[in-house]
Amino acid sequence: MPREQAGVCAEGNLHGLYLMFNAEEQAEPTLRKVLAEIAAWLQASVDQNADCAFNGFVAIGANYWDELYPDSRPAQLRPFPAFESEDRTAPVQPVDIFVHIRSDRLDINHIAAMEVCQRLTGLVQLVEEVRSFRYLDNRDLTGFVDGTENPQGSHRREVALVGAEDELFIGGSYIHTQRYQHQMQRWAKISQKQQEDTIGRTKIENIEYASEDKPLTCHIKRTNLKDADGKSMEILRQSMPYGDMNEQGLFFISCCKTPAHFEAQLKSMIFGDGHGHYDHLLDFTQAVTGSAYFAPSLDYMENAAG
Ligand code: HEM
Repeated sequence: MPREQAGVCAEGNLHGLYLMFNAEEQAEPTLRKVLAEIAAWLQASVDQNADCAFNGFVAIGANYWDELYPDSRPAQLRPFPAFESEDRTAPVQPVDIFVHIRSDRLDINHIAAMEVCQRLTGLVQLVEEVRSFRYLDNRDLTGFVDGTENPQGSHRREVALVGAEDELFIGGSYIHTQRYQHQMQRWAKISQKQQEDTIGRTKIENIEYASEDKPLTCHIKRTNLKDADGKSMEILRQSMPYGDMNEQGLFFISCCKTPAHFEAQLKSMIFGDGHGHYDHLLDFTQAVTGSAYFAPSLDYMENAAG
């Protein structure tokens, strides 16, 4: 079985560090080799830093894939969907390479990021860096617990990793990221009950509303979707809060065996159910970036490096 990159299905951590790069022209032959080495180095660091639950992964942008790996492409890899309705938008920021680093130690993440950047010197430009953190008991900065309905245990791999349907890409994962900027003052002005109606769960105790009490506009109503066969369209969320006193919010990350689930959920949030019921969480937060990637297995990267 091809080995997946450890960070894709990892359990939560205290700190995250995300590096977004664009590749220099003609860098591909060297980049294929260096990115495979970085993925292998991140993997080796998992064992060396087990005490702080270190993990990471490297993902390649949908728009850059064919340049880096011209011989083969994941069956469903496609650009980030640029949805827009009224004042609700999902802006797209195509990025070539995403390096996801996480552990329970800020210093270890920093060391890993320095190692990654050093190995990539001359091959890429750093487009953006974001540092994230666990907030209270796994809450988003809105004060609500985030991740409760995430798949658990071995089910995480079933949801997040490509299986036999795309043989060359078994163990890989479709990754979507969006950096959301929260309007904290606006959120603080509404009552706790209004906040709970916006999410569809209680704030302190994190109890899901009964079906009949869930507004059609609440976040979990808009994102809990079923496909044509009645099967839950699940994703594995690896999101974490980020920010400072100038801007803050959620760095949203979805890992999945198909891009279709994330796309359907985002569409449902922005366009609603066709009767005007869009996700009211979007009245309080705005995506400022959006990128689609694929995180291949370690074996794919190694083989493609030649
Ligand atoms: C659930 C927060 C964006 C998909 C939740 C929950 C919270 C939350 C508090 C309830 C607890 C849980 O099950 O995790 C946020 C915030 C967001 C955001 C603050 C952005 C600022 C998104 C986006 C998607 C998404 C962009 C997908 C396109 C989901 C899903 C669930 C969920 C699938 C579980 C629904 C269920 O089955 O109950 N989110 N979320 N979220 N969210 Fe989000």
